Amino acid sequence: MTTRIASAGLMVLAVTARAVTADDARTLKQAFANRFLVGAAIGTHHVIGEESAAIELVGRQFDSITSENLLKWAEVHPEREQYNFAPADKYVAFGEKHGMFIVGHTLVWHNQTPSWVFEGDDRKPLTREQLLRRMREHIHTVVGRYKGRIHAWDVVNEAFEDDGRLRETPWKRIIGDDYLEHAFRFAHEADSDAELYYNDYNEWHPGKRRAISQLVKSLQAKDVRIDGVGMQGHWGMDYPSLEELDATIRQYRDLGVKVMVTELDINFLPRPDQEQDADVARNYAASEKLNPYAEGLPEEVNAFLACRYGDLFELLVKHADKIDRVTFWGVHDGHSWLNNWPIRGRTAHPLLFDRNLQPKPAFNAVLEAAHPSADQ
Ligand code: GLA
Repeated sequence: MTTRIASAGLMVLAVTARAVTADDARTLKQAFANRFLVGAAIGTHHVIGEESAAIELVGRQFDSITSENLLKWAEVHPEREQYNFAPADKYVAFGEKHGMFIVGHTLVWHNQTPSWVFEGDDRKPLTREQLLRRMREHIHTVVGRYKGRIHAWDVVNEAFEDDGRLRETPWKRIIGDDYLEHAFRFAHEADSDAELYYNDYNEWHPGKRRAISQLVKSLQAKDVRIDGVGMQGHWGMDYPSLEELDATIRQYRDLGVKVMVTELDINFLPRPDQEQDADVARNYAASEKLNPYAEGLPEEVNAFLACRYGDLFELLVKHADKIDRVTFWGVHDGHSWLNNWPIRGRTAHPLLFDRNLQPKPAFNAVLEAAHPSADQ
């Protein structure tokens, strides 16, 4: 496939020549209205009003929201007898006010899940039956509270390794390989109208997407509801290739489920290598090598990012009949998780809006992909 990145020299000129302003009348949700939903992940700081300009931007630009952390187990159910629904209530109210498609993320995951979940009062591991009961209680309580209001759930997140093996997690160890099936069954019991998704990263690895396809087929064969598969979309400038993405989208769509990009951002900060790893935490601040855009993004890098986003959205538009939603992981660069991963305290630029909430050239490239001009 020909990419803009490949002919980046020309594109740099083309992309930077077009001025984009914050008042640009065109919005993402309008641009893709006949194609797919465009979403953003939002967090507690947004819904409690700490970032009023950012949340206004979300209302203007996006027609779907995903909860960044506030519905993860550790946040919504930090102690055995304690649920913390205040941020989630505000999150849902915000989405309803703006008529958005509201996604709950996530019910069963191995990260951001407190260790008490897997232990009894005696700190000993629960039995399979006990953990199933606990999983069911959590899912019924959380999904049930927002029944008919949260439209879709990422039921299980990241259950597979890149080679397709089922990841060794406490869920698998204690319950067994069928823990995913139970999670989907419990979610459907709690809200029979909610759409239910499986969500993961690196799905361009053939082994991983084969395993996910098997999961979908086995749930379908057992009549367990599954509506879609989410591709997280934590991508880079040169991975995955458009061919890999194309193959992944086709394979999932052949399963007859919705396909979504659920956590899109493009990371192009250098990855620390193993040797540096030990020193990274100490040295990152001084290391221009690891934090090269602390002072801002040079025009040509901004233009490269625009090319990459343009290429990706051109492919997504080509597959618009298969893609249901594209959600960005965050609203603007200043609050992206990539400022703190895999190294804390760097300056990342992975999204369409910069730290001042201004649209970057990438924003324009994405809009262009929605309405390709005749000469492209
Ligand atoms: C994964 C999870 C998200 C989030 C991102 C990084 O992709 O699904 O909830 O934690 O990692 O922020």
